[in-house]
Amino acid sequence: MAAFKLAFVLYVLGCLLCLTPVIDGKPRLLIYSATAGFRHDSIPTAITVLKERADTISVEFDATEDRSQFSLDKLSSYDAIVFLSTTGEVLDGGGKAALQDYLNRGGGFVAIHSASDSLVNTTFYTRELGAVFDYHADLQHFSLNVLQPDHPSTAGVPAVWQVQDEAYNFKSDPRALGAVVLLSADDSTIIGKPEPGSWRTATYIDSQKIHEHHVLTKAHPIPLEKGAGVEPNGFAGRSFYTSLGHLNETWQDDIFMSHILGGISWVLQGNTTLAFNSSAMVGNAQTSQDPTSPAASDAPDNTGNPKTTGIVDHP
Ligand SMILES: *[C@@H]1O[C@H](CO)[C@@H](O)[C@H](O)[C@H]1NC(C)=O
Ligand SMILES: *[C@@H]1O[C@H](CO)[C@@H](O)[C@H](O)[C@H]1NC(C)=O
Ligand SMILES: *[C@@H]1O[C@H](CO)[C@@H](O)[C@H](O)[C@H]1NC(C)=O
Ligand SMILES: *[C@@H]1O[C@H](CO)[C@@H](O)[C@H](O)[C@H]1NC(C)=O
Repeated sequence: MAAFKLAFVLYVLGCLLCLTPVIDGKPRLLIYSATAGFRHDSIPTAITVLKERADTISVEFDATEDRSQFSLDKLSSYDAIVFLSTTGEVLDGGGKAALQDYLNRGGGFVAIHSASDSLVNTTFYTRELGAVFDYHADLQHFSLNVLQPDHPSTAGVPAVWQVQDEAYNFKSDPRALGAVVLLSADDSTIIGKPEPGSWRTATYIDSQKIHEHHVLTKAHPIPLEKGAGVEPNGFAGRSFYTSLGHLNETWQDDIFMSHILGGISWVLQGNTTLAFNSSAMVGNAQTSQDPTSPAASDAPDNTGNPKTTGIVDHP
């Protein structure tokens, strides 16, 4: 591992000396972190860490809060769009139409934390993400149980994972849309003090809400008839959502990052975009590569570790 780290440092230093970009043919992702409601101060931290770790899964991230990026022309060069802690109405009608078109053409979708409290009345967005945020318990330490340990987003996570985050509740069960739940909060570890306002009302109107899927991560392709965000004549890529990601500290945690980077890798491995499929309709067209070894051409060293888990220490 020490030798690997040294090799990695040398590789990074080598690239700093390069005068021309060395990156091409990598999957490209667009991080969108616009907010029209609550703004998480962890957004800049998250963007910095994602860009720092991009090499570990051999991808490139661009980041924007500019709504005008949501045209089909601009979205088309990306292999996935990442809604990072967005809140509220962050797209206008034209932007929503462009996102819908992008999803119809096999584009990948990743949504993190409060992205489920965004575009709450946009049906295709809710279907793509799986559910709408309802309320959360106070920020606290609690445990998550891994329900699907064989998924890239959970492969690096302990079977019982202690986190400090917000435990989200949703207005509906994403399983109803065909989502597979990968992680679920252990309710017995959550102190569910109702906050004033709607969450208390919601709690008492429907007591099931406090017992079900406080926190979840989902992954699908959702069968079209069950309601993915893709229109009936479209071609569905993959979608991944995690409700974790509130704090700066969360983004500095290697286990959390293996969860996020594993989820992103899994979305790309749907092979519905140009980085992995030369006949796809959207994505980075420069070269196709084998998604099972995304770092193969750029790897600083061959450690024999599976690349898809994204668990590589960053110097
Ligand atoms: C989180 O990090 C950002 C910088 O990335 C900083 O501005 C903010 O104050 C931090 N939040 C806390 C609670 O430390
Ligand atoms: C969403 O729809 C509900 C019910 O019609 C409405 O009360 C709410 O204001 C809408 N929210 C947004 C952001 O459009
Ligand atoms: C994507 O391609 C890789 C490599 O060819 C393959 O192992 C994987 O099963 C493919 N994924 C899908 C969903 O077809
Ligand atoms: C590659 O893209 C084409 C065209 O969209 C599609 O028909 C095909 O199913 C894709 N391959 C995979 C593995 O998704």
